[in-house]
Amino acid sequence: MSLPLRLLACPAREAEGKALSVRLDLPLALYEGALKDCLRALPAAGAALVLEPEGLGLYALDLPGSGAVRVQLDDGALGFRLGAERARHEAVVKACGLLKAPAPLKVFDATAGLLRDACVLAAAGARVRVAERSPVIAALVADGLARAQGHPELLALLAHLEFVPGDSLALLEAMADSADRPAVVYLDPMFPHRDKSALVKKEMRVFRAVVGEDADADALLAPALRAATRRVVVKRPRHAPWLAGRKPSLAQEGKSARFDIYLVAAPAAGV
Ligand SMILES: C[S@@+](CC[C@H](N)C(=O)[O-])C[C@H]1O[C@@H](n2cnc3c(N)ncnc32)[C@H](O)[C@@H]1O
Repeated sequence: MSLPLRLLACPAREAEGKALSVRLDLPLALYEGALKDCLRALPAAGAALVLEPEGLGLYALDLPGSGAVRVQLDDGALGFRLGAERARHEAVVKACGLLKAPAPLKVFDATAGLLRDACVLAAAGARVRVAERSPVIAALVADGLARAQGHPELLALLAHLEFVPGDSLALLEAMADSADRPAVVYLDPMFPHRDKSALVKKEMRVFRAVVGEDADADALLAPALRAATRRVVVKRPRHAPWLAGRKPSLAQEGKSARFDIYLVAAPAAGV
């Protein structure tokens, strides 16, 4: 069931709002004055995508007063994780086998979302191609990447990231037969969450309203295994079943997530 999605823009961004309205096939409404008052006046269901002076944000309308969900490469928590030394300690970096690789690895992140994992992988030195099929989430990603261009400290990271709007299923199938296969394919599809923390609530609600639950996620594993030259890494909640019911070669347990690792080929010694 898809929940209602509204598109709003401040008057200064009306032209971009109109372009987005055509792209997303959503009517545009302009808001004046305080956005929070305008959001409170809307029915409390679904989400609102809002072009504000500070960027594109997605709001859960059933959580009045909650902040915007954005792709924000320079925010405090993600910014901290993106320091090159810090990124090397991230579980996703270890799971993808980046640390001991002799040269920067090519990673295809098939499930961009808010781009956090892709950014951490790029900060750790990988060359990351990242895809997103939801046009709304893809708009957030494009907006976040455009704003990041204004931050000189992020330019090196951005040079390691290529964003492709589109469905990864078709992209993986095309990659498998190409000369340009990624070493690693990374999959982090949505999964029904029971976590009640405020942040998870806000992000999960807007993601559910916009993309649903990725019920077709199982279908990504087989083409991912054909496309990757080294490994496929699947992020799952700790107690979730294996993707497509397929047992991984090994699993890396984290505090809140598990990384199932499917080795495709024997890596070089020490990797
Ligand atoms: C849980 S989020 C990923 C979060 C991301 N790893 C991060 O760090 O922000 C899952 C995302 O994958 C996207 N997705 C799921 N299946 C996809 C597919 N076949 N092709 C492209 N994107 C897909 C969904 O639209 C959703 O935005």
